[in-house]
Amino acid sequence: MTQYTSKNDERELALQKEYMRRAASCVEELAQELGRRPLCCVTTFGCQMNARDSEKLSGILTQIGYETTEQEEEADFVIYNTCTVRDNANQRVYGRLGFLNSLKRKKPHMKIALCGCMMQENTVIEKIRKSYRFVDLIFGTHNLFKFAQLLVTMFENHEMIVDIWDETDQIVEELPVNRKYPYKSGINIMFGCNNFCSYCIVPYVRGRERSRDPKEILQEIEHLVADGVVEVMLLGQNVNSYGKNLDEPITFAQLLQEVEQIEGLKRIRFMTSHPKDLSDELIDVMKHSDKICRHLHLPVQAGSDRILQAMNRNYTKAQYLALVDKIRTAMPDIAITTDLIVGFPGETLEDVEETIDVVRRVKYDNAFTFIYSKRTGTPAAAMENQVPEEIVKTGFDRLLKVVQDTARERAALLQGQTLEALIEEVNEQDASLMTGRLSNNMLVHFPAGNTKIGQLVRVSLDTCHGFYYTGHVVE
Ligand code: SAH
Ligand code: SF4
Ligand code: F3S
Repeated sequence: MTQYTSKNDERELALQKEYMRRAASCVEELAQELGRRPLCCVTTFGCQMNARDSEKLSGILTQIGYETTEQEEEADFVIYNTCTVRDNANQRVYGRLGFLNSLKRKKPHMKIALCGCMMQENTVIEKIRKSYRFVDLIFGTHNLFKFAQLLVTMFENHEMIVDIWDETDQIVEELPVNRKYPYKSGINIMFGCNNFCSYCIVPYVRGRERSRDPKEILQEIEHLVADGVVEVMLLGQNVNSYGKNLDEPITFAQLLQEVEQIEGLKRIRFMTSHPKDLSDELIDVMKHSDKICRHLHLPVQAGSDRILQAMNRNYTKAQYLALVDKIRTAMPDIAITTDLIVGFPGETLEDVEETIDVVRRVKYDNAFTFIYSKRTGTPAAAMENQVPEEIVKTGFDRLLKVVQDTARERAALLQGQTLEALIEEVNEQDASLMTGRLSNNMLVHFPAGNTKIGQLVRVSLDTCHGFYYTGHVVE
């Protein structure tokens, strides 16, 4: 397998900075024409990794003179950062493109760009070239760092620009980023995935696994903390294999220990952990840490050994359960969440019972339950025994009920405890309340008093409402 370097590409960075200057003059010209600052809107579909990419796009757009808006209707430039993990994500994009076309008809200077995972699929590009010809710019997941350059090309041309790379070993650090939240931030520690779970398209659209240099990660976090961030979420498709391919290998647990040293940083989260690679070292580091949150997202996907094997997950139900036992023994108060798939080719209702059994035994604090979606190009898509819709639906409903019952049961256990919460926002329904997140990821709403967003407070959990709490601040 190719060894990837992860050094910052300084030459590319300088080049992109030059393109940012050129893009800025294009935007200035547009501002003159419009008599105001042009507005851009970046819409994210998909996971935290895509959300982080959107912050990078938005950072460049702000740098070159755009103002940001969340209303697509008023934007002069709309960027869809797409996801293709399940087909419904793709369908949402196609649906909304029709709406964007109607906006563009009324506003001919409007620009539309598409990027992200869905754009790494040839069939998608063909379809857009044919049926969505009003799109101005398309790029993928590997060349996001050259966004400024692509913008210059877009402004200087009038036909659709398509630039998709199959792979890259380039990592370009230190481009501008617009953070969505002032007090917390996601941080990529690695890109891509090498696991090739048989149902999953991510390795094909995100490329091979590449870890970032730990020094770059630590420096980025230090800068964030200096800028007011108290909580970081370390992001990777499989953080437990972080660092293995670096010139000087380091484990994920070692990286966490380094992050923990950063003064002023209060909380550390990470996702996602693949069960096959979760080490004893990591459990030990978590157990002794004051900053690593008491939450582990540990996708199991299925409970039947036959299905797990066909999914290429590399663990058995018994191994997974033993791992959960080990984690809970070390940290009894930890919240464990998971992802579940129903309807993988060949899955019977008896197999789903095995998944339900895992949920009953583990008692997840939360679980995302998905219906299997056939992704062209993955091994599972070529399997002959695709499951009929009615069987999938029956299994899904049975599983969902158990997931909800156990999550409620887990939530109720916190009743009456006083725990630390990071205040995230003013409550959406009732502005006299604040919403905070506990270390274990549970939300709690409480009267605001003198508290402010980004502050850590101790909150008494007074009333459980199923999946969240209401409470009050304890001074
Ligand atoms: N890297 C992470 C998951 C990334 S995708 C991990 O391995 O845990 C997030 C979730 O989407 C997966 O955990 C899986 O449950 C779900 N998923 C992926 N491909 C899917 C498909 N083809 N159909 C349905 N769900 C899928
Ligand atoms: Fe997909 Fe598996 Fe990689 Fe997760 S580990 S992104 S499910 S291939
Ligand atoms: Fe979707 Fe890409 Fe994330 S396919 S789940 S946005 S890595």
